[in-house]
Formats: sequence, C-alpha cells, structure tokens
Amino acid sequence: MSLKISVLFVCLGNICRSPMAEAVFRDEVQKAGVSDHFDIIDSCGTGAWHVGNLPDPRTVDVLTANGIYTEHLARKLKLTDFKKFDYVFAMDRSNLQNIKRVCPSDAKTQVALFGDYGSTGVSKIVEDPYYGGDDGFQLCYEQLVDFSRNFIQKVVR
Ligand code: 4NP
Repeated sequence: MSLKISVLFVCLGNICRSPMAEAVFRDEVQKAGVSDHFDIIDSCGTGAWHVGNLPDPRTVDVLTANGIYTEHLARKLKLTDFKKFDYVFAMDRSNLQNIKRVCPSDAKTQVALFGDYGSTGVSKIVEDPYYGGDDGFQLCYEQLVDFSRNFIQKVVR
C-alpha cells in the first residue's frame, strides 16, 4: 500500500451499485481537486455472474445524466484486493458479511459500509436496485455522492 489512498467499492453483481460508486467517487475526487491523494479507485462484486460485463444501462443512464463516464468491466472480489486497497467499502450489510467472510485475519485494509460516511438522514444502506425501477438508481446516486463527499472530507486534510 502506498501513501496515497486506494479504495475498492463492492456490491453483489458489480454492474449496478459499485461501478456507480467507483465512478461517482472518482468524479467527486476530481471535482474536489484532491486526485493526488488517491491511487487506485476500483469496484468489484462478491458474485461472478456478470464478470466481464459493462455496468447495467440504468447505472450508465444515471451517470451520463450527471456528466460521468464509466467503462468499468465487472470483476469478482479476490484475495489480493485485501493487500492492494486501504478501504474496501460494501454497499449493504449482506455484501459486508460476504467480504468479511473472505478477508484474511491479518489484513490491514479497513472493511466497512460506505454508508458509515453518510450524512444524518441519509440511509446507510445502498439497496440493491437491480429488480426495481429507475428511481432506485437515482437514489443510489444521491447516496453515493453524499458518502463520497463526506469520506473525502474525512481522509483528505
Ligand atoms: P449490484 O446489483 O449488486 O448492485 O450490481 C445486482 C446485479 C445483478 C444481480 C443482483 C444484484 N443479479 O442477481 O444478477
């Protein structure tokens, strides 16, 4: 791990929430002018069903509407991620459990809910929007912007 901070966002399929988190976080880092504080910003899933796929079109639509581009291809969480990343952020409690189950006991990475950085009144859980409507994706976006801004403020001094 370098002095710069590396952050990994994790959901189930790595096609809806975590690629959105990765893209939103990178956008917020750029907008805040703090890119030099960060090294690797990436995302993955705990499941392998969508490996190699581009994000869900509804994730792409919300990002595009906000001027954000993504070319992420889905991948599955792997053991070396716990060496490479300072923070591994889960979208929901089920993701968090799945990550903790495979995280080596001597890993120095911090595994947490990204929503732990949420503002008061913003739900800490980024609900799985896959089987729902477009409004679920919009809500994800709003939560992820909030968490990203708060996390950046907390770790960049
Ligand atoms: P994600 O959403 O975990 O936010 O990428 C899902 C995508 C696909 C499935 C479930 C959740 N799936 O069951 O295929």
